[in-house]
Amino acid sequence: MSESTAELYCVFGNPISHSKSPAIHNRFALQTGENLHYEARLAPIDGFVASVQAFIAEGGRGANVTVPFKEEAFRLCHELTPRAQLAGAVNTLSFAGKRIVGDNTDGAGLVRDLLSNLNTPLAGRRLLLLGAGGAARGAIGPLLEQTPASLFIANRTASKAAGLAQHFSALGNVQGGAYQDLAGQQFEIVINATSASLGGNVPPLPEDVFAPDALAYDMMYGKTDTPFIAMARAAGVTRLADGLGMLVEQAAEAFLVWRHIRPETAAVLDTLRHA
Ligand code: ATR
Repeated sequence: MSESTAELYCVFGNPISHSKSPAIHNRFALQTGENLHYEARLAPIDGFVASVQAFIAEGGRGANVTVPFKEEAFRLCHELTPRAQLAGAVNTLSFAGKRIVGDNTDGAGLVRDLLSNLNTPLAGRRLLLLGAGGAARGAIGPLLEQTPASLFIANRTASKAAGLAQHFSALGNVQGGAYQDLAGQQFEIVINATSASLGGNVPPLPEDVFAPDALAYDMMYGKTDTPFIAMARAAGVTRLADGLGMLVEQAAEAFLVWRHIRPETAAVLDTLRHA
């Protein structure tokens, strides 16, 4: 397949040089025989919209959006999918002429990683989501769609968690509050959606918050244990997962949106895991 006729996609972010998305999508393209080229593009902090417009003018067909542009991407779109609307953020753009359609595949990617890669059904389970920022918000709708017994959102700023719980209350049994409110409660699935790891910190959880055989899941990932995974391991949790699976699954979901083919993720995830 010639590069020159390949359809063009990219990921916008700042910073972006360490993004794994080009490697993931270019592997998906090879695997499915789709003729596309996917690259990383650094957008200036105050130049996201101009970067998207320049990419469309170049013939770009679609783009992913990562930190810190997901909310700006949401505002830029002419049309939003219901899940993007619910998330209040966009990570997947499709270009139809000059029209920009926004989607959000992050929550779907998380749920697919939990269900398919980690064999962890969510229906009837007690879920704890840590954080109430953009990453947490994108996960709530897709998590509640799986009909867990309950979802508790805990956040340093408790009012933000309570606000999110209120916002999503029509979709399931969801409550929000502070870390102190977790005292005496146990959860089968604990998902860290805070950015605390970036500063080497972990949310202050009561030690006994993990139910026996609980899964501790960090949306962040790294070469070694993230601070949250290290904390869970030290608390005796043996089912541990970082966000690499979510990264690959949200990419597969975006590929499906653009190309109407769902790529296989297992081999790609395995390659990244051992890279
Ligand atoms: P993102 O898009 O990654 O979600 P964000 O919207 O800035 O980023 O949200 C960051 C989240 O991590 C918030 O829930 C934040 O808590 P506050 O709402 O109280 O600010 C949480 N967070 C960041 N640093 C933290 C820390 N050291 N301990 C606990 N929570 C932290």
